[in-house]
Amino acid sequence: MTDSVESKLEGLRARRAKVLEGGGEARIAKIHESGRLTARERIHLFLDEGTFMETGVFVTHRCNEFGLEKSKPPGDGMVTGVGQVDGRQVCVFAQDFTIFGGSMSESNALKVCRLMDMAMENGCPVIGLNDSGGARIQEGVASLAGYAEIFWRNTMASGVIPQISAIMGPCAGGAVYSPAITDFTIMVDKTSYMFVTGPNVIKMVTNEDVTSEDLGGAMTHNEKSGVGHLVASSDQECMLFIKKLLSYLPQNNTEDAPDVTCTDPIDRRDPRLDNIVPDNPKQPYDIKDVINMVVDDGEFMEIQPYYARNIVVGFARLGGQSVGIVGNQPKHRSGALDIKASLKAARFVRTCDCFNVPLITFEDVPGFLPGTDQEFGGLIKHGAKLLYAYCEATVPKLTVITRKAYGGAYDVMSSKHIRGDWNVAWPHAELAVMGSEGAVNILYRKELAKADDAEAKRAELISEYETTFNNPYIAAGLGYLDDVIEPANTRPMLIQALRSLRNKRQELPPKKHGNIPL
Ligand code: HXC
Repeated sequence: MTDSVESKLEGLRARRAKVLEGGGEARIAKIHESGRLTARERIHLFLDEGTFMETGVFVTHRCNEFGLEKSKPPGDGMVTGVGQVDGRQVCVFAQDFTIFGGSMSESNALKVCRLMDMAMENGCPVIGLNDSGGARIQEGVASLAGYAEIFWRNTMASGVIPQISAIMGPCAGGAVYSPAITDFTIMVDKTSYMFVTGPNVIKMVTNEDVTSEDLGGAMTHNEKSGVGHLVASSDQECMLFIKKLLSYLPQNNTEDAPDVTCTDPIDRRDPRLDNIVPDNPKQPYDIKDVINMVVDDGEFMEIQPYYARNIVVGFARLGGQSVGIVGNQPKHRSGALDIKASLKAARFVRTCDCFNVPLITFEDVPGFLPGTDQEFGGLIKHGAKLLYAYCEATVPKLTVITRKAYGGAYDVMSSKHIRGDWNVAWPHAELAVMGSEGAVNILYRKELAKADDAEAKRAELISEYETTFNNPYIAAGLGYLDDVIEPANTRPMLIQALRSLRNKRQELPPKKHGNIPL
């Protein structure tokens, strides 16, 4: 090797070492002290060993204002590249807080845009690890332009490739809108926050005192706002959650999610299911117990577990095939559909539908939640979102009515009429316009007012109504149910039905796009 080659190689190595040292030891130590990992450590943890191929390694910013011309660190605070997770390709970008607080510049936004274009062209998921002080203040509108280029790509990629956002530090201002457009937002507890305007601005404008954590911490967004989908206890757990989510999803909308080898027998009956629904229809039970008893190995990845607990959504497998599960939860608000539950489930149904993940619905719903706060809050349009989402979904739709299917909620929850493929009920299911007490009070109000022994008469009428309507056989006789099944047989029958729908193809009428009631 000549001296000249040797010196060029040394020059390259020195430059690469500079790339790898990020913002330097002191800033890295500060990140570690705050309980966070650096951008590179996160990527290292996330990807299969040795698979990372970095892009835009030596990109620098182009700003020569406010002293920035003196500091042009390679990579410009954004690590981008391609790698593999469990042998499947992903594109990943990670904001490096040790360089200008991970702030978004024109140049590093361009790195993200190129990566997203690559993901679209190659049909693979994009994962964003966000940890940033927001728009690079020194760059002004050029930085905002960079954000907008990303938002546009997020929107174009929506429903084409899975997009997952991890919030692993600050995420403020308009920067929150990229994660908001993506399919899943995972927040790390205590070290991340998201808000449009921070505590200081809020104090100035509304005179409210609030901390960053209370305003936009992981639990705020996972319990109150519904912006978050999962809370991770650490950066490490966050990476595991992303990997697990990816395992249930296809690479893009033209593929199916990968099947895994199923060791849980596909013909496994579970007699515990026969007794899980209490005799008293007012008594709750946990729909998650039902889900766990039915799915492969009892493994259920719940999404948004803290938000709108009256509905449960998440991923599992049946006979090795990835499925999305929606279940009314009688343990919370009797499983009634309210605004938040409708929003949560509608989003999940659409996510599954755009990525070809079949939907399994476990239904026990007493109706939509009554109340002025619900009506004033727009329960009509929010409930309509769930109805619209189920109507629009063309993936296989399987529905098991475990107990109540009342009123409009019966129609909404993947009923036969909105193209449920296989709809069944357990024998104690009750399908009716409303509960027996409410029905009798309306139908027989005048008679009961005049009756000598109103209570005895009411009980008699309720019993009559229950005998007539509170069973699955009228619906089954009309063909609205395909079958009434023994609860213990739910798993084998769902798997059989799912397999029969493996080649389901259903087209929607040609249109620019539908007009979901937003
Ligand atoms: C340039 C930034 C920066 C930014 C932080 N830094 N944010 N540089 N542009 N937006 C730099 C700091 O100057 C500092 O540099 C280093 O990053 C680390 O920041 P610290 O403040 O020391 O860290 P910390 O105490 O942990 O506080 C983190 C922070 C704070 C809370 C994020 O930095 C902060 O409030 N930053 C400004 C946030 C903000 O208002 N951004 C604009 C939001 S509006 P040195 O050299 O000292 O280490 C927005 C609009 C986007 O983003 C719109 C998109 C459509």
